[in-house]
Amino acid sequence: MLRLDKFLCDCGKGTRSEVKKLIKQGKVCVNGTVTRDGSLKINETDTVTLNNKPVIYEKYIYLMLNKPKNTVSATEDDNDKTVIDLVKSEDRRNGLFPCGRLDKDTTGLLILTNDGELAHDLLSPRKHVQKTYFAEIEGIFPENAPTLFEKGLDIGEFVCKSAKLIILSEKEGNTEAEITLTEGKFHQVKKMVAFLGCRVTELKRISFGALSLDPRLKEGEYRPLTPKEIALLKER
Ligand code: URA
Repeated sequence: MLRLDKFLCDCGKGTRSEVKKLIKQGKVCVNGTVTRDGSLKINETDTVTLNNKPVIYEKYIYLMLNKPKNTVSATEDDNDKTVIDLVKSEDRRNGLFPCGRLDKDTTGLLILTNDGELAHDLLSPRKHVQKTYFAEIEGIFPENAPTLFEKGLDIGEFVCKSAKLIILSEKEGNTEAEITLTEGKFHQVKKMVAFLGCRVTELKRISFGALSLDPRLKEGEYRPLTPKEIALLKER
């Protein structure tokens, strides 16, 4: 049982005060009858419509964001714009938060959700969820760098789990590479690259678990995950 106004909020139909207004305006029907009472308790067998269109209950929201630079992976910040600030009010559900962190200057795939259980699962070190980054790097790696990554770099501050380094190009002293980790320590890619005497100049996450960044999303844009993508995330 859920209050009608909460139900509409959870379904992304507006803030609590916005949906209260819609209800007062007579735009909401429960089982075919207009109701102006936001406190009415409804359950899954009730049919709710807004402006004569059915409203299907979705407790959780899952968004794929192409994070731009100069945003922080947090829900609130005193100084910087957060990734949640990029989300339109109709999608900004209670409890929406970034599933993991990318640095302020890192771009690319970030999942935003209010499904705490799934996020906890995906971020658990025991799950070894693969994250792949495209990196532009100043410097050329030693020839054995892919083997060193694979063995697990001991960078002093911590020992990295086995990782994958694929060199895509090397020219004029610069490298482009794809790096896949199964963990996510603070600044990890930058620290691993620095340990081998090079410097990350651009970093973009291109995949997270079974999901790849949708190439149609420009930086700062997001879209809901498809049911298939949600199932892929949950499969783990
Ligand atoms: N590694 C980094 O160094 N930064 C990120 O944002 C993600 C992984």
